[in-house]
Amino acid sequence: MKIAVLPGDGIGQEIIQQALRVLGAVRGDGLDVEIEQAAIGGAGYDEQGDPLPVSTLSLAKAADAVLLGAVGGPQYDELPRAMRPEQGLLRIRKELGLFANLRPALVYKELAEASSLKPELVENLDLMILRELTGDIYFGQPRGQRQTDSGQREGFDTMKYSESEIRRIAHVGFTIAGKRNRKLCSVDKANVLDTSILWREVVTDVGKEYPDIELSHMYVDNAAMQLVRAPKQFDVVLTGNMFGDILSDEASMLTGSIGMLPSASLDAQNKGLYEPVHGSAPDIAGKDLANPLATILSVAMMLRYTFGIEAAAQRIEKAVGSVLQQGLRTPDIYQEGTTKVGTVQMGDAVVAALGE
Ligand code: IPM
Ligand code: MG
Repeated sequence: MKIAVLPGDGIGQEIIQQALRVLGAVRGDGLDVEIEQAAIGGAGYDEQGDPLPVSTLSLAKAADAVLLGAVGGPQYDELPRAMRPEQGLLRIRKELGLFANLRPALVYKELAEASSLKPELVENLDLMILRELTGDIYFGQPRGQRQTDSGQREGFDTMKYSESEIRRIAHVGFTIAGKRNRKLCSVDKANVLDTSILWREVVTDVGKEYPDIELSHMYVDNAAMQLVRAPKQFDVVLTGNMFGDILSDEASMLTGSIGMLPSASLDAQNKGLYEPVHGSAPDIAGKDLANPLATILSVAMMLRYTFGIEAAAQRIEKAVGSVLQQGLRTPDIYQEGTTKVGTVQMGDAVVAALGE
């Protein structure tokens, strides 16, 4: 098995280092991997003038899984759009066909107080946002800017989904719901958008193949409200690229600790790209302050979804639970009465807990 490791920018290097130590520590568990690193994002631009260098893309294509740190930094803000770090991310998703983006929002009982919602609203919250990742207004053509007849500039983008794109993400949604609490809520804007009318029709149709899953539909504005009103009503939320971008940020905040959340982006063969939900945090980069747990938990998702080694995935998740129980906290999740530790110490603690 081959893993392409793309640390990226900002805190990317340091969190990836800790994740690789954890990966090394579970190697015995039926996992034999070869690891190769390459540059992406701002690092790709600095090294080769491209946020997704050709060599990085071919490494990622040849690998069974990709582990990514984070991309972006203020020094790249003025670059033309094609050279910006986030283009590296968007292109690798598209090039690898990673259409299914899994963003769990899980509240650890030790961290329930850190949420911006009342603890009782989020205690034991465990929801999964499933976001379609390679279609929608993110990639729809035509797009651009043009002059109108009246001589002013006009910007435009195209929201679109084909039936087959909706069908394949819907199947992933029903399958995931089947392994959880059998509830799937599909989110759209079918009261306004034609794209969403088709979305709802196709999801409903696919649902007939999964009679044991409870399917519901919700408009995106209502879903945004329900997420902060009563988030525990959701199990799996299925939605398009743009709505999923927004709702997954909202859901991550419910947990109060975006530094804890992993994600997976999968293709049709379960090849995947795994990355923390948080960004590159340039302000704290290189200071041993970053929380490596989201990246470590991304390794667990990799073992689960691409390599199918559930036992090793759970071992890592248990080890993370154990360090939280020991009261260890990086500054982002620190509260009075707990022990503040740095990035490396947190990695040490997880590796130690794996040995228990
Ligand atoms: C995300 C990010 C990206 C997106 C950006 C950086 C292009 O917000 O992964 O959610 O919009 O998909
Ligand atoms: Mg986003």
